[in-house]
Amino acid sequence: MTVKEIMVIGAGQMGAGIALVFARSGYEVKLYDADIEALRRGKQYIEKVFEKDIAKGKMEADTKEKALNRLQLVVDLEADPITADFIIEAVVEKLEVKKEVFRKLDELAPTHTIFATNTSSLPITEIAAVTGRAEQFIGMHFMNPVPVMKLVEIIRGLETSESTCQTVQELTEALGKQDVEVKDFPGFVSNRILMPMINEAVYTVFEGIASIEDVDQVMKLGMNHPMGPLQLADFIGLDTCLSIMEILHEGFGDSKYRPCPLLRQYVQAGRLGKKAGRGFYTYSD
Ligand SMILES: NC(=O)c1ccc[n+]([C@@H]2O[C@H](COP(=O)([O-])OP(=O)(O)OC[C@H]3O[C@@H](n4cnc5c(N)ncnc54)[C@H](O)[C@@H]3O)[C@@H](O)[C@H]2O)c1
Repeated sequence: MTVKEIMVIGAGQMGAGIALVFARSGYEVKLYDADIEALRRGKQYIEKVFEKDIAKGKMEADTKEKALNRLQLVVDLEADPITADFIIEAVVEKLEVKKEVFRKLDELAPTHTIFATNTSSLPITEIAAVTGRAEQFIGMHFMNPVPVMKLVEIIRGLETSESTCQTVQELTEALGKQDVEVKDFPGFVSNRILMPMINEAVYTVFEGIASIEDVDQVMKLGMNHPMGPLQLADFIGLDTCLSIMEILHEGFGDSKYRPCPLLRQYVQAGRLGKKAGRGFYTYSD
């Protein structure tokens, strides 16, 4: 299927990044968020990334203007008919919220529209089942930060059709990214491996084995990771990390995935990481 217009639901760090890469690659993009402030911040983020790219000589000013002209903000999902060929959802990592979003989209979107979720860990098959188009439903899992990271994990639900999968592979390629297809199991591949490592790093702090800085230092200098696990957790969002650990814990029923109490406590305190200005570290910008 030829995709011309994209709609992105959720303008947080992932949704804004996804809207950016599609607009940059020549697609018409509509970006929606239930929170108008988040929408405003999303647009600001996109402009800031483009300006940095211009300063680094990676983008022409004219290209930025064209990309921004292709981007439209949507404040009311029901105000105008949806015309997108492809809709990708990037709202919070909560199953019930995502199901509600897709129930509504299924009523509002044209029948040909393909639905994708950027979920990090939730079951694609179960979310698809709330729509009447499970064969046109797929997981398209971008990595953070979206404008930089090359990988897209593609996850087929039980009913996902071959042509849906092919369309999403073509879109991934058009964005200059590379796909890896994985099965619909909790955490897929990326977060099944990454999140237990982050959770274990939180346990080492919780148990007083080393400081936050030293845990990160061990993994940077000792394992050659570009960023320590606790800093990475701050960048991902500690609420998202906790949600993913809960999904792994529940999905596999295995105690090895139990979320560290300290991670839960940070989330309860509102220390959600970089997006909140405070997580394991403090951020001024
Ligand atoms: N943060 C990461 O590193 C990362 C990486 C890959 C995938 N993901 C996944 O992407 C999704 C979004 O994560 P994020 O980090 O961008 O979160 P975020 O908290 O930055 O943004 C979520 C956005 O969803 C909006 N929202 C909530 N409910 C909504 C609704 N019903 N309708 C419309 N908008 C709604 C919020 O206002 C917020 O702006 C999650 O499923 C997450 O697991 C996150």
